[in-house]
Order: sequence, then structure tokens, then C-alpha cells
Amino acid sequence: MSSGGFPADFTWGAATASYQIEGAATQDGRGPSIWDTFSRTPGRVRGGDTGDVACDHYHRYREDVALMRDLGLAAYRFSVAWPRVQPTGSGPVNAAGLAFYDRLVDELLAAGITPWATLYHWDLPQPLEDAGGWPVRDTALRLAEYVDVVTAALGDRVKHWITLNEPWVSSMLGYVAGVHAPGRGDPALALPSTHHLLLGHGLAVPVVRRNVPGAQVGITLNLSDITAAGDDPADVDAARRVDGTQNRLFLDPVLRGAYPADVLEDLAAVGPTDAVRDGDLEVIGVPTDFLGLNYYFGFEVAAAGAAAGSPTGAAYPTAPEATFVDRGRPRTAMGWEVEPAGLAALLRRLHAEYPGTAIVITENGSAWPDEVDPTGAVHDPQRVDYLLGHLAACRDALADGVPLRGYFAWSLLDNFEWAEGYAKRFGLVHVDYDTQRRTVKDSGRAYAEVVRAGGLTAS
Ligand code: FCB
Repeated sequence: MSSGGFPADFTWGAATASYQIEGAATQDGRGPSIWDTFSRTPGRVRGGDTGDVACDHYHRYREDVALMRDLGLAAYRFSVAWPRVQPTGSGPVNAAGLAFYDRLVDELLAAGITPWATLYHWDLPQPLEDAGGWPVRDTALRLAEYVDVVTAALGDRVKHWITLNEPWVSSMLGYVAGVHAPGRGDPALALPSTHHLLLGHGLAVPVVRRNVPGAQVGITLNLSDITAAGDDPADVDAARRVDGTQNRLFLDPVLRGAYPADVLEDLAAVGPTDAVRDGDLEVIGVPTDFLGLNYYFGFEVAAAGAAAGSPTGAAYPTAPEATFVDRGRPRTAMGWEVEPAGLAALLRRLHAEYPGTAIVITENGSAWPDEVDPTGAVHDPQRVDYLLGHLAACRDALADGVPLRGYFAWSLLDNFEWAEGYAKRFGLVHVDYDTQRRTVKDSGRAYAEVVRAGGLTAS
């Protein structure tokens, strides 16, 4: 252990995703993704924002890697845009698109920064959506084919791979609630889309291993600490359903090779379950090297009408009437509860229920209404508090023996926050979208200090 309660070999990094930062949406042969289509559809994204330019990282990656080096980051998690590599989602490879990641990886390695590549962070090539998207089985096979192309090209230099980012968001927000691309909004798609995403993960893992000597491969899930508002059986059942959809529906097949029976039963009431074929769970349950965890907030759940708060709604198709209780915690600009204790509780739970699973926090961060002040500084005390509070939760979990191996702050840069467009800023570095000027925020400096010290120096 180093002085700050973190192991000496702990990985300190920051994360981004392709569509959120790259821009250059039609350059060098990139094809359209579901996010291009969705963001260009009036009324879908706040302010009509699109990722056409974003942070212009496609052209400014050298400057951005230099920023990371100045912050002292040891690792950088980025995602590869499938429609750059295979513009139609299958078949011919677009060498010019792949070459961007080649340059980025070389730049990172030259700066002494370890690349962690996410293969799928939501930018499905539009032609695959037109052919049915994640609710159809073929999409999983196409993912494995694309993963083969990317890992064969970069696997000599990139050793850390994440198959999918947050499949819950792809299925439940994209296909079930319809508030993310592709915006379908059909509860019956919950299991088919989830299952094919997970099948794609299971098919991709051996492909990564085949192409990458010494690969470290995992999946990233967005999990939460979910508690019931009280002992009332209706509240307890609502919390079980929300936890089932958010956490266990993804954890159990990946780490135990089986869907949780109660969740499957609940889902059978909202749609077909015949997407699940014999042998699929063995594919999905393939051993991995780590679990990527994205944690942002906790939630307390009550049954319908039991407490003041917002309904879980369409994102939880087996508990649409359940309610998120307002616990009076501070809330970020996203309206998300600040609950660092939930991270510690979640880490302990994962360690207890899925023992032996190494965990890497692949995202954690917060949005606040940042402004550049007249002196050119960005003071973001709330983000500093959020960051240090969650790192303290990590330290506590480590002290309890949780095998936590790394932490990636979300995000390196302010960026295109999906349905919220550019209105929500998560960066350690402020981006002025008119000039593309980058300004390190106070939180960026605070994080650089943590990384330099290898842990938390104060209490
Ligand atoms: C996560 C996403 C990431 C970012 C953060 C705020 O769900 O993985 O791209 O938008 O939320």
C-alpha cells in the first residue's frame, strides 16, 4: 500500500468515448451511426446538438494527449468508433478510419500513457440498426467480426480491452425507454436487446484473446447501490425488480453464466424470451480478467405512490410504477444524487456476491454548471468534493479487501453528453466549444495531485 491507501500498482486514468469527443463525423470514410441519426432528429437531443464537431478530438488528439501527460495520467480509456472502422457495420474495413486509432495509440504510448480501449460505446453503425439492431441476433455476430478487425490491428500495442460500455443503457434507454439512440421505446425489446449485447460480449472475448497476446479483457456495467425505502413487502419487491434490471440481469450471466430466475420471470411478462438459445449462457459466461464498473449515484426505491420522488418509468420495464425516493442528498446538474457511500456499499457487495472478480472503476464523475472566470480559471469545488468523496469510498473498500485495481475519472474533457447535448459538463478539463480551447479545472488539478501522490493525501 502507498501512503494514500491505494496499492502502488493501482491504475489512475481518465475516460472518454468516441462519439462524445471526436467530431469529424463524415471524415475519412466514417459511416453514420445511430447517434448521428438520433441527434439529427428534431426533438431528440437538447438544443438540437450533434456530435458533428464535439471536441474536435479527431484533429486535436495530440494536444489532448499532451494534456493527459501534463496531468500525470497513467492510463486513458477511449472508445473505438465502429462506423469509422466498418462504415456499414460489416464487410469492408475502412483503413483511413482505423488509422486514426493507430496514431492515437502511438501518441499515448510515446507519452507513457497506457491505452484502455472500449470496443463499443453506443455508436452502432446505422445500417446494422436498419437491419434490426440489437434486438436481432446477427448484430452480436457482426460485433465479433468488428472486434476481430480492431484487435488484430491494435493488439500489438493495446493490451487492455473493454467489450461493451453499459449494455443496460443501450437496451433499456435505447430500445425500451427510447430516450437514447435508436429511440425505439418498446418494453418487449428489453430481453432480446440485452441478450444480444451480452452474446456479442461473449463472442468478442475469445477473439480479443486470440489477437492480443497478454490481453486483459472485461466488460463495463453501470451498476448502482439500490435499497428499498422500507420493510413494506411492496417496497422490497420494487427494489428487487429495479436491482434485478439494473444489476443482476447483467452481472449474473457474465460472472455466473446464468440469468437470475426472478428477473427472467419478470421479463417474460413484458416480452418474448426466446432470444435465449441453448449454449448462449456458456458463451456469455466466458471468463474475463476484470469487471469494469461505472458508478454515478445510488437510489432508494419505493413501490408506486409510496413516497415523493420520480417514477422509475420505462427504463425499468418490470417496475415502471416504482419510485426513486428523494433522500434529500445534494444533486448534480444531471439531477443525480451524490452518494459516495453507495459506491463503497456496491464494491463490498460485488466482492461478497461475485468473489474473486477484480474490479476497475471505468467511469465516475459529475456534472456541474462550470464557468471560466475573468482570470481564466474554472473553480469547480463541487466536482472536487465529488471526486475526493468517491475516492475515499474506494479507499474504504480497498481496506475491506475489495480487489479494486483502478479508477478512471469521467471525463477527461467536457463533451457531448448524449440526450443532454453540450449542456452538461463532466470534464476535468473545460472545453470552450466556440474556440475549442481547453482549460484545466480545479478538479483536474486536484486529480493530478491524487495521481502524483498515488492516493489521497488528506483524510
Ligand atoms: C455514462 C456513459 C458516459 C457518460 C456518463 C456521464 O452512462 O457511459 O458516456 O455519458 O454516463
